[in-house]
Amino acid sequence: MRLPRLHLSDLPIPGLSRLPFVSTPSPANTNRRVLVTGGASGLGLALATAFLERGDRVIVADLAATDDRPESVPEDARYLRLDVRSEDEWQAARAEIEQIWGGIDVVVNNAGIAQGGRIEFLTEEDWRLITDINLLGVARGCRTFVPMLKAQGSGHLVNTASLAGLVHPPTMASYTAVKAAVVAISESLRWELEPFGIDVSVLCPSFFRTNLASSLNSSDPAASGFASKLIDRSERGADEIAAEVMTALDAKQFLILPDPDARKAYRGKRFMPAAYAKTMLGMGQKFARATAKG
Ligand SMILES: NC(=O)c1ccc[n+]([C@@H]2O[C@H](COP(=O)([O-])OP(=O)(O)OC[C@H]3O[C@@H](n4cnc5c(N)ncnc54)[C@H](O)[C@@H]3O)[C@@H](O)[C@H]2O)c1
Repeated sequence: MRLPRLHLSDLPIPGLSRLPFVSTPSPANTNRRVLVTGGASGLGLALATAFLERGDRVIVADLAATDDRPESVPEDARYLRLDVRSEDEWQAARAEIEQIWGGIDVVVNNAGIAQGGRIEFLTEEDWRLITDINLLGVARGCRTFVPMLKAQGSGHLVNTASLAGLVHPPTMASYTAVKAAVVAISESLRWELEPFGIDVSVLCPSFFRTNLASSLNSSDPAASGFASKLIDRSERGADEIAAEVMTALDAKQFLILPDPDARKAYRGKRFMPAAYAKTMLGMGQKFARATAKG
């Protein structure tokens, strides 16, 4: 998301331009075995394509049945149905990967939906759905594959959160809550799994153009419309985000803010809290005025 009133790029904060956002990439490791959930569209598809271009082997997982492979999935990738809400389907995916590859190197827990809504409009069902997919989907993916990665003594968990997991704008409480939880899971696992040779990264992009808006709920059309505009009008596409992510993954970065708006907003919250609060308050007031008019 964009915070237009913050002009942080001019801030002379020593070391800020290098840490934790930028480091020198290590030579690309190829021929890795990679699983990407939510890989038939948007960021998952762009990442799957980028891994294939590196020479990696990729399984794209998504909601369509295995024998009804989406046309979007690149020819070189295998395709598997995996609804991240289903424990049985996670177990089936693990068994299949064990059988065909004997292990896995990169697990990209990327599947997700969008949700917008003022708190009084978000239903119990909305909260349960987004928690099941965006939060528990990531937890299940980590839980399923960590034993395999531990046995190998290597591997990389890559969890797609969002800038919304770090900065929390109005009218997005359910989305920000689950994305903040994905950041938290990722950090806990980072410390927990480092002794086993397992890397963890969490992706926190700002808005970029994908099909994500089509998953928006209708409980609060005004707030969903606001979120939808931010996604559809973004100047960035998924391929640009994926390219930045791949470079950051080469460098084994933990917190990946793959676009300038994300970096600017996160720095704003950390280092200019008053300006950040003013911007967020402005967004809340603007939304309240717009909806008061009906
Ligand atoms: N687009 C953005 O602006 C943006 C910004 C920050 C973070 N993200 C995150 O990026 C991730 C990818 O989203 P995207 O923008 O590429 O959207 P997208 O809608 O283009 O792709 C999401 C994919 O996830 C799949 N999916 C949805 N529910 C699923 C389930 N239960 N099991 C398996 N697959 C499922 C969809 O079928 C789709 O292929 C999401 O986690 C999203 O929250 C997106």
